[in-house]
Amino acid sequence: MKQENLMDKLISLCKNRGFIFPSSEEYGGTAATYDYGPLGVGLKNNIKNQWLKEMIQLHDNIVGLDSAILMNPKVWEASGHIQNFTDPLVECKECHKRFRQDELKKGIERCPECGGELTQPRQFNLMFKTRLGSTEETGRDLYLRPETAQGIYVDFKRVQQSMRLKIPFGVAQVGKAFRNEISPGDFTYRTVEFEQMEMQWFCFPKEADDWFEYWKKERLKWYLNLGVKKNNLRFREHGKDELAHYAKKAVDIEYKFPFGWKEIEGIHNRGDWDLSRHSKFSGKDFKYSDDKYKEPFFPYVIETSGGVDRATLVFLTDAYEEVSGGRTTTTKSIKETETVLKLNHKLCPIKIAVLPLSKKTSLQSLAHAIEKKLKPNYMLQYDETGSIGKRYRRQDEIGTPYCVTVDFKSLEDKKVTVRDRDTMKQERVEIDGLENYFSKKY
Ligand code: GAP
Repeated sequence: MKQENLMDKLISLCKNRGFIFPSSEEYGGTAATYDYGPLGVGLKNNIKNQWLKEMIQLHDNIVGLDSAILMNPKVWEASGHIQNFTDPLVECKECHKRFRQDELKKGIERCPECGGELTQPRQFNLMFKTRLGSTEETGRDLYLRPETAQGIYVDFKRVQQSMRLKIPFGVAQVGKAFRNEISPGDFTYRTVEFEQMEMQWFCFPKEADDWFEYWKKERLKWYLNLGVKKNNLRFREHGKDELAHYAKKAVDIEYKFPFGWKEIEGIHNRGDWDLSRHSKFSGKDFKYSDDKYKEPFFPYVIETSGGVDRATLVFLTDAYEEVSGGRTTTTKSIKETETVLKLNHKLCPIKIAVLPLSKKTSLQSLAHAIEKKLKPNYMLQYDETGSIGKRYRRQDEIGTPYCVTVDFKSLEDKKVTVRDRDTMKQERVEIDGLENYFSKKY
């Protein structure tokens, strides 16, 4: 399948199956904002939960935080975002389209759309401004945060002291961030409103290089363990000229999207930039000391910063498969291309589908009884419409790992057929043993 076609097909699947669609579409939408539908929100929540589990539950010494989106504007002065969080913008004097100069092919001096003359580049700040207060006179400008990280730095002392944490320790949070991107696009890859999963690891400065290497490996492993194909992932180290204003060193994890290798997560050594700047701008003490380190110092920060929306796009793209001519025996005669989303079981929005073979009341009641039994532990979908082949295909398309089919024999032998999404193998399983059966699968 051609890579451009893959993207079109994925976007269409996302739209038609309730994963992701343009926001406020009925009004013509708005640039680069998307809504996550019933299945999209299930997938996205599973991704966030897997990240939080990995960070807070499975690693030692990492705690959670949910800091506010709106912060005192001085935070952004201190962090350097007001001065430095800019992209070089050029505008076409004819059609007024705007481009990031660093994204135009080298040597291009005219508008790629209409050939018009381009303006000289000017630095364009990516932060969205908003206004707090009811009147023009008394109100003041605030910013929608462009990264969640600053909430963690500003709360550093309170979190550390309230939880009696000793370095090295980490603070992790998932939350929305906003950027007035000059060139949003490639579906949900670059949007103006998105979610980040960020973890700030506070450590002794001399140990920062070792921790940087540690977190690089840990973060790559996370994507691999959740089923992303190894060949589609790689590291890319930032050159000195492309480092963000806060970074001493940075490595991106990149994914091979149909539109090219692109960053999905950054691992940064931010040194003591943020804590020392907040100390200076607020006049408060952001230094750390304990029994081991008697002399107070600013810890260094190793940051892992991933996008939830980009991770969602990675898992969807990587899982998307098509089988031409049909993969299920029941639908072989249709000879259509069938789609299957081979999502990792932990990420699938629907874990089990319960399908009564016919709409006969006896089968419906047994299927509903099974649904009731499994529902407390698994996200289920009950579906009784269409042929069983069509229903399997619908579940394959949304990545449901198991279908439980209730047939007439089930009424007698108290067994059901469980079909596996990937192998398409079917096995008869005792109804009473279903909870035990699935507890081994998940
Ligand atoms: N706190 C560091 C920081 O924000 P970044 O490299 O600018 O670093 C981190 O962003 C991650 O946030 C990116 O790797 C990406 O996954 C996500 N991200 C950034 N801008 C985005 C956008 N416009 N749309 C979607 N995700 C974005």
